[in-house]
Order: sequence, then C-alpha cells, then structure tokens
Amino acid sequence: MPQLAYVDGRITRLAEARVHVEDRGLQFADSLYEVAAILNGRLLDWPQHLARLRRGLAALFIDFDMSDAALTLQAQRLVAANGQTEGLLYLQLSRGSARRDHPFPVAVRPTLIMTVRRFDFAQRVDQQQTGVSVITVNDMRWGRVDLKTTGLLPNVLAKQDARAAGAFEAWLLSPDAIVREGGSTNAWIVRQGRIITHPLSANILPGITRDTLIRLARAAQIPVDERPFTLAEALAADEALLTSTTAPLLPVVRIDGQAIGTGAPGPIATRLAALVWDEIARQTGWRRP
Ligand code: PDD
Repeated sequence: MPQLAYVDGRITRLAEARVHVEDRGLQFADSLYEVAAILNGRLLDWPQHLARLRRGLAALFIDFDMSDAALTLQAQRLVAANGQTEGLLYLQLSRGSARRDHPFPVAVRPTLIMTVRRFDFAQRVDQQQTGVSVITVNDMRWGRVDLKTTGLLPNVLAKQDARAAGAFEAWLLSPDAIVREGGSTNAWIVRQGRIITHPLSANILPGITRDTLIRLARAAQIPVDERPFTLAEALAADEALLTSTTAPLLPVVRIDGQAIGTGAPGPIATRLAALVWDEIARQTGWRRP
C-alpha cells in the first residue's frame, strides 16, 4: 500500500505531496505542529492535541476555519487510507503561502498537511526494561517554546548531540542549570517517592503525556511536584524518567554518563510506566506484547 499524505484538503501519494515554495512554514517556521500516536487504529489523546493546537493558533493569530470535527474526520480518513494501525500522525498547520514579507500577509489561507507513518511502540516496552541515557546541553531556544511551532533547529542540534553521544535524549538546561525538558520529551526526577517535573511556563512544551502522567500518578497516590529542579538535583535523584507521545514513558538511568540511583530502572518509573500503558489500553485497546 503506498504511503499517503493529506495536503490542503486532498489525499495524495506521500512521494507526490507538495507545498508551495513560499509557504511561511518553510520560510519562517511560521507554523504549528502536533504528533499523535495511532494505536489499534485509534488516535491517542486526540482532543488534547486539538486543544493544544487551538491554543497555538490563537497565540499566533493564525485564522484557521476548519472545525475540530472536520479536522478529526480528515485525520481519521488519512489514518484509515494508510491502513495504519500502529504509528504516528504528523499534523502541520502554517499561516499559509504568500510573497515573502515578515509581517502577516492579508487574506492568506493556512496550509494544513498531515502524514502518517508506522511506529513500533513495542520497542519502547523493551527500552523500558533497560532504561535510557540522556546528556545535557544549554537550551538555545526562543522564549515561547510552550507553543508547538516547527522552529525546531535548537531541538534538532540537541538531539543530534545526543545521538552522537550514544544517548536517547538531550536535556535542555537554563542558564542557571535548571532542567527544562528534553529535545522532544518532558523531563522528570523521583526523590523520596515524589515525582518532580518543571512547572508549565513559556520555557517548556505542555506535553500531553506529561499531563496524563500527572493525572495518573495523583490518582495512584504518588505525589507530584511541578517545580524547577537543577541538574545537580537530578544527578542525586533516586530515579529519573522522560515522557512523550513517542516514548511514552522511559526510565532515565544515566545523565551525562553518571548513573542515577542504582543505574537501573527504579520501582516508581516502572510503576508509572505500567499506569501509562494501562491508560493507553483503556483508550485504544492496544496491549503491549
Ligand atoms: N515531541 N517537549 C518537547 C520539546 C517536545 O517536542 C515534545 C513532543 C514533548 C512531549 O509532548 P507530548 O507528550 O505532547 O508528545 C515535550 C513530539 C513527539 C515530536 O516533536 O516529535
């Protein structure tokens, strides 16, 4: 089955899908995106992804007139057309295409593109057994990373540093060594039975998985502190972990080469991961192998 993409109302072969060379997403990263998990053919946490997209559109004054219901229908249509039961939906919405000029063009129509690809979530279950390592780098991003824009060059460079170091992720540090988040994941530590993650602010993305984990942890009587923590505190933590749509929860067992806790996935991360998989199963019916 050929891979199919959605571009501005039409489903076409991925290899033939095109946007205009003067699309503002391309020229200015004047665009927002979402990545949603497809499990058992269903979109996980879809209403939350839509809500985050809408917040971004409002903040950037992008006038997009498609309703949530219509957008959902198009997304589901693309997932079905691709025959994908386990994968990722990528959605990108730019301000549109117009002659290059920095201020907003008048009467421009946003460009909506969506793609679907296979993604093996079972590999995450394996990685959960061993845990992953992270490195740290300075956060070089702009002041509104709570908006999920495609201006991801600092993230790209950080993730490439991680890959070069053989690590899964790069944690991004503020000038005073506070761990903000990862290049494409939210960051957490565990201390004395409490889980700690950076509070929502303009300096982190409000991760959907982050939100889910806070809810699940509290329901399971595991206390959650949304407060800043430093690299020094992370290195001395009992456990560490990361979350994202594509992770969904992975224990972090090394930071900058230093073992965290025992250097193996700890009991809290393991318990939280089970809660996250249970929630995925509840929503989608997908069961880990
Ligand atoms: N990344 N922080 C950053 C900087 C991210 O890019 C992401 C998601 C997250 C986790 O958010 P969520 O739980 O909503 O996936 C945190 C996506 C998956 C990506 O860029 O591929």
